[in-house]
Amino acid sequence: MGTGGPGGSPGEDRHISDDDWNPQLTTERLLLAPLVPADAEELVGVLDDQRLHRFTGGHPANIAELRRSFELWAGRVSPDGRERWLNWVIRERACELPLGTLQATVSVEDSQSVAEMAWVLAVEAQGQGYASEAAHALVAFLLTKGVREVVAHIHPDHEASARVAQAVGLGPTEEWSSGERLWRLSNPTYVTS
Ligand SMILES: CC(C)(COP(=O)(O)OP(=O)(O)OC[C@H]1O[C@@H](n2cnc3c(N)ncnc32)[C@H](O)[C@@H]1OP(=O)(O)O)[C@@H](O)C(=O)NCCC(=O)NCCS
Repeated sequence: MGTGGPGGSPGEDRHISDDDWNPQLTTERLLLAPLVPADAEELVGVLDDQRLHRFTGGHPANIAELRRSFELWAGRVSPDGRERWLNWVIRERACELPLGTLQATVSVEDSQSVAEMAWVLAVEAQGQGYASEAAHALVAFLLTKGVREVVAHIHPDHEASARVAQAVGLGPTEEWSSGERLWRLSNPTYVTS
């Protein structure tokens, strides 16, 4: 995705359709609900803040752009069938208020599943540990699915994102792409509880 979307088993001659890669997940305070196209209506306002793009570039999507992306992601597989595109809406568990989104793009490299994560939290909801809590649940889930490597690309000045990565067990590498450092799950025996 980079923009949305995960993978199954590139190279395998089977259609990726199983929804059990994008189930509802819950944490103490959060509900991670599988993203559907209709979420665009609720999320367009939540994500309409230029500050969310400080380190990632671009601009907030308008409703038409968001709908288009969410419709594309709803297939949960890339158009070439090589990646799983997994997206969740992060909601407050008590009232289901949307707080942001969480994403994992799963591909297969050298016969091992690799998941790239990305997270976005509404500015008003930041600084309360929500992103770390949501990302922790997602990493735990991905490991139950047999994912062997979890990564994230993070701008070197993006302290909050680096802290989230660190909180869920990722460590900084010396690998860079488009000015962002690659962080990788450094402990494959990561405890899921
Ligand atoms: C990155 C982001 C998701 C973090 O969300 P969040 O809910 O505020 O994160 P948390 O509350 O879980 O905080 C994680 C850590 O970052 C720290 N932190 C939060 N905001 C910070 C800031 N502006 N500067 C420095 N540290 C910050 C917190 O204190 C916490 O540290 P700790 O683990 O040592 O306690 C949020 O800032 C965001 O959506 N940014 C814009 C989108 C984006 O750039 N996404 C990254 C793409 S990979």
